[in-house]
Amino acid sequence: MKLPFFNNKQAEGFVHYPNDTIPEHIAIIMDGNGRWAKKRAMPRMAGHKEGVSTVVKIVKTAVKCKVKVLTLYTFSTENWKRPKTEIEFILRLPKEFLSIYLPDLIANNVRIEIVGDREKLPAHTREAIEDAMERTRYNDGLLLNFALNYGSRHEILHAMKEMFSDINNGKFPLEELDEQKFSDYLYTAGTKEPDLLIRTGGEKRLSNFLLWQLAYTEFWFTDILWPDFSEKDFLQALEEYRNRKRRYGGL
Ligand code: FPP
Repeated sequence: MKLPFFNNKQAEGFVHYPNDTIPEHIAIIMDGNGRWAKKRAMPRMAGHKEGVSTVVKIVKTAVKCKVKVLTLYTFSTENWKRPKTEIEFILRLPKEFLSIYLPDLIANNVRIEIVGDREKLPAHTREAIEDAMERTRYNDGLLLNFALNYGSRHEILHAMKEMFSDINNGKFPLEELDEQKFSDYLYTAGTKEPDLLIRTGGEKRLSNFLLWQLAYTEFWFTDILWPDFSEKDFLQALEEYRNRKRRYGGL
């Protein structure tokens, strides 16, 4: 069933913040779907399905707040250890989500991208995302990144292999290697590093998410389970971010 979203028109209302205090890039570890379902004696899949509803709400709020980039940890390289039925269920969600909401996302100038090793994803997942990427490639509103089959250590090794191959082939000398050049080999190349990381579900760890990119990011943890995470909670995270002093190692 379609949840209320934007009804194929521009999102109404705008959350007013001075522009420079809105985090440009927000990354989210959406944790707690399984526990949400367990508390209701429902199968874990019910938690993931409810988690999609939260994605809809948070994307809508991010559009209203004029956030530039939202990166959602949707399926990690470690999630392949889960039961096959759960893996298949989660990896069907992007296609289901896009089949319902892509027109709304397009109407709201959202661009879809993927971060992660897409080659190992099932064809239906990859094709749904790639189709959405193609159809939204010229949009310049919110960049919505789905981290799928994403693991930071895998990303860094993959980047190093590509980079050393380029160095060996004489594309640039080793002496020119700096942080910026290395970043250009990551899945997130060209995207500003996250300003704010949100993790729901009570755990306080990074779980192999954006280890390079989060070096100077502000972290915001909450015990709220992802399916219960609301627009109000998201705005509270933004409000707390506003009061952080970012010094990047300086004074
Ligand atoms: C972690 O919670 C969550 C996941 C591994 C899946 C996240 C996926 C979604 C929220 C839906 C994605 C939405 C779209 C639109 C593709 P968990 O299952 O580990 O929860 P637990 O720690 O309570 O067991």
